Amino acid sequence: MEDAPAAEDNNPRRVHWEKVVDVGILCCIFGTLLGGFIYFAVMDLRIHLVDPAFRLYSATMSLPNASASEFTATWDVTVVAFNPNHNLNISFNSLQAAVSYATKVSYATDPSGSAAVMLATKLVPPPSLLTTRARTTHRFTVETVSANVGDDVARKISEGRAHGGVRFEINLLGQYRYASYDKSPRMIKACYQVEFEFSPGNSTGTLTRTRQPFECEHYARSHT
Ligand SMILES: *[C@@H]1O[C@H](CO)[C@@H](O)[C@H](O)[C@H]1NC(C)=O
Ligand SMILES: *[C@@H]1O[C@H](CO)[C@@H](O)[C@H](O)[C@H]1NC(C)=O
Ligand SMILES: *[C@@H]1O[C@H](CO)[C@@H](O)[C@H](O)[C@H]1NC(C)=O
Repeated sequence: MEDAPAAEDNNPRRVHWEKVVDVGILCCIFGTLLGGFIYFAVMDLRIHLVDPAFRLYSATMSLPNASASEFTATWDVTVVAFNPNHNLNISFNSLQAAVSYATKVSYATDPSGSAAVMLATKLVPPPSLLTTRARTTHRFTVETVSANVGDDVARKISEGRAHGGVRFEINLLGQYRYASYDKSPRMIKACYQVEFEFSPGNSTGTLTRTRQPFECEHYARSHT
């Protein structure tokens, strides 16, 4: 006669099934975690958002009057807008362009006080829909008419014009969103340091030097 409880304890089939159930539960938990991890990793790679980029392509400026109280100038600017994303279109809501005169050479050597004087600001037509990897050219003008820039700025600009070049900053502030991904608007800032040279008796200056990309310090200060 067999001892029933002992036989049950020693039953290899019962022990086997318990293990199978335990291992099964562990596998389920592990599989779920792994699946979730892979899912989010893939989603993250697929929707990796990269900001659009602007690059200054060319610029000229006309300066018919550089007097302190009748300062009149027009900047004609061409930029290239680029969508670096492989799977996201970018649409722009607005684009603001501003030109300021940099009275200081560098914040690093002299961080005190206000260094840039805003001369002109304008809402310009934004780039149309930038499809994936698209690069498009945009031309716009920013002007100031009979502005009062004060004696100091007028004198410095006139001196620069007569001796080599005048340095300005062109700042762009764009509001955009990733089409079909996220409707919330995002901002992009792009800043360029430019220098124009004028021939004697000619009010049109040509771009001789550019610094880009340029950290948007002055812009941030004058707009916040
Ligand atoms: C600039 O404007 C001032 C003030 O109106 C005027 O006296 C001067 O002649 C103008 N200069 C030029 C080059 O137009
Ligand atoms: C981007 O826009 C183009 C043109 O409207 C469209 O054909 C394309 O499917 C869009 N791509 C994405 C990823 O939304
Ligand atoms: C003035 O300078 C611009 C740019 O350098 C040049 O294209 C233009 O021909 C010049 N105009 C005159 C009248 O010299």
